[in-house]
Amino acid sequence: MQYRNLGKSGFKVSEIGVGCWQLGGDFGAMQAERAEAVLKQADACSINFWDTADVYGAGLSEQRIASHCTNYPCKQRIIATKVGRDSRLYPDNYSKAAIKANIEASLQRLKLESLPLIQLHCLPEPVLKAGDVLAYMEDFQQQGLIQHFGVSVETLDEALFAVKHPKLSSIQTIFNLFRQDHSSELFPEAQANNVGIIVRLPLASGVLAGKMKKDQVFSEQDHRNYNKDGEFFSVGETFSGVPFELAVELAEELKLLVPEGMSPAQMAMRWILDHAAVSSVITGASTAEQVKENASVSALKPLDKALHQKLSDFYFDKVKQHIRGVM
Ligand SMILES: NC(=O)c1ccc[n+]([C@@H]2O[C@H](COP(=O)([O-])OP(=O)(O)OC[C@H]3O[C@@H](n4cnc5c(N)ncnc54)[C@H](OP(=O)(O)O)[C@@H]3O)[C@@H](O)[C@H]2O)c1
Repeated sequence: MQYRNLGKSGFKVSEIGVGCWQLGGDFGAMQAERAEAVLKQADACSINFWDTADVYGAGLSEQRIASHCTNYPCKQRIIATKVGRDSRLYPDNYSKAAIKANIEASLQRLKLESLPLIQLHCLPEPVLKAGDVLAYMEDFQQQGLIQHFGVSVETLDEALFAVKHPKLSSIQTIFNLFRQDHSSELFPEAQANNVGIIVRLPLASGVLAGKMKKDQVFSEQDHRNYNKDGEFFSVGETFSGVPFELAVELAEELKLLVPEGMSPAQMAMRWILDHAAVSSVITGASTAEQVKENASVSALKPLDKALHQKLSDFYFDKVKQHIRGVM
């Protein structure tokens, strides 16, 4: 596993991280044994960057991480969690006291004294831009409640606003073969301001792994069922905003471009790592086998220039115009 700097935090994070939304059950129920197997495999693959949030399974994802870390102590792990989407805060109760209470609840669940990295979790744009919440983060940092802070965003505008904050360590954003825009405007700014880019949805909720069928049935608890067309949260999130059946068709077409010896999922993640501004790709995993395959991407050679050009042409010709939600 290779490691990269995470902006101003000084952390060296694994190029492939593990996204722990799945541990909370939003990709279908996950038994404790399988959750444990995912985290054990992350350790075995030297993945030291784990992304979660207070709301994933209403705290279950954080609790499962804490229980694993208690059973298998290790100083190298960097747990990044998020605050801001819990119903005690969202959409309009971002008082300092309320946010602090939520951070303290995460500390308790994670059994930590200080959070290595807290990310503001897709706050409503006016709340983020008012700046108060970012100022609270500076105070919490001074108090030692958190070590570093970043933002997780939906839009380029939000990212370009946050990137200028002098204390911001990271920006988490959607960036994948179906969502290529951020490399041109955001990434140079992030590098100029020493802000790490954390990439979520590298597989566009799994569809870029090329394993889904148009008539795929997702369980009731899976956001790929209940938020397929943005019914519960941003339409730009599930499947990266591409209508599902079209996403499956496009993923099938992309298979023709996959280099020999690679899987579609590996090509999709390698393409992201070929961007130097990216610190870590936090692929979500439902099984230990997926974690292993994802971690292997760090050892693969960069994709060649001709393939990069084809993947860019594919995006502009066939994908970009179909993306729903904000970009
Ligand atoms: N607003 C935010 O801040 C926000 C929003 C979304 C996600 N996130 C974070 O970002 C992480 C990643 O995003 P995501 O999980 O939504 O999307 P993703 O990483 O694009 O897709 C994850 C899904 O891809 C499939 N998968 C993973 N590895 C695979 C492999 N090697 N081969 C085949 N299929 C594979 C699995 O699907 P199956 O379950 O069907 O097997 C898995 O559930 C999340 O876990 C979460 O930590 C943050």
